[in-house]
Amino acid sequence: MTGALRLGVNIDHVATVRNARGAGYPDPVRAALLAAEAGADGITAHLREDRRHITDEDIARLSAELPVPLNLEMAATEEMLAIALKHRPHAACIVPERREERTTEGGLDAAGQHNHLAYFVDRLGAANIRVSLFIEPEPAQIEAAIRLGAPVVEFHTGRYAHLAEEEQAAELKRLADAAALATKNGIEPHAGHGLTFENVVPVAAIPQVRELNIGHFLVGEAIFTGLEPSVRRMRDLMDSAR
Ligand code: PXP
Repeated sequence: MTGALRLGVNIDHVATVRNARGAGYPDPVRAALLAAEAGADGITAHLREDRRHITDEDIARLSAELPVPLNLEMAATEEMLAIALKHRPHAACIVPERREERTTEGGLDAAGQHNHLAYFVDRLGAANIRVSLFIEPEPAQIEAAIRLGAPVVEFHTGRYAHLAEEEQAAELKRLADAAALATKNGIEPHAGHGLTFENVVPVAAIPQVRELNIGHFLVGEAIFTGLEPSVRRMRDLMDSAR
């Protein structure tokens, strides 16, 4: 059976534009509220260690003002754990973070970092925050997520998104197999990174996938059409795939 597919809109790059000038606009919280009106089921924001886009104040305001669930993307550090426990978002997606990267490059090594991650998964889970691990669609990583007791995994679709269309079939199969394996083991699969109007439909068509998190493309498209039409069109494409 095909379950509903949620859209999480990542508003980080509204904050990137704001921070480029150090002004108070454009406001990522306003963007989040508009995205929710346009059909986003949730909002995702990544509070990075260097605060290059989303700030602590943005997280506080999103936590207070959103009518839809907040998914906080965070590195597995004590600082981020304390912030998550303070604001108690609906969900926390643990991502790898390197200061010099331009975006999240590659998934977490959940298999190699079991002991480090176990502490964060347990502390977040105990606070009723739904923990997700951002991993590559690989059996070894899913098995690590099972051992860690994570309720959700988000598969990194960056590799898929960067392949030429004629080369995408094998990576799509890897994503579909990973989604099936996660679901079979009671883990809810999500997916995201690099998704666009052009490439979203085959990922949205993977029946076990329950949520897509999409940001950079939607914010870029908003320059041309506005944020609401951009989110609505993505929502329509996702619905057309199910
Ligand atoms: N999911 C995760 C875990 C991410 O780190 C990102 C990028 O911040 C996204 C989804 C969204 O990727 P994009 O901005 O390329 O749509």
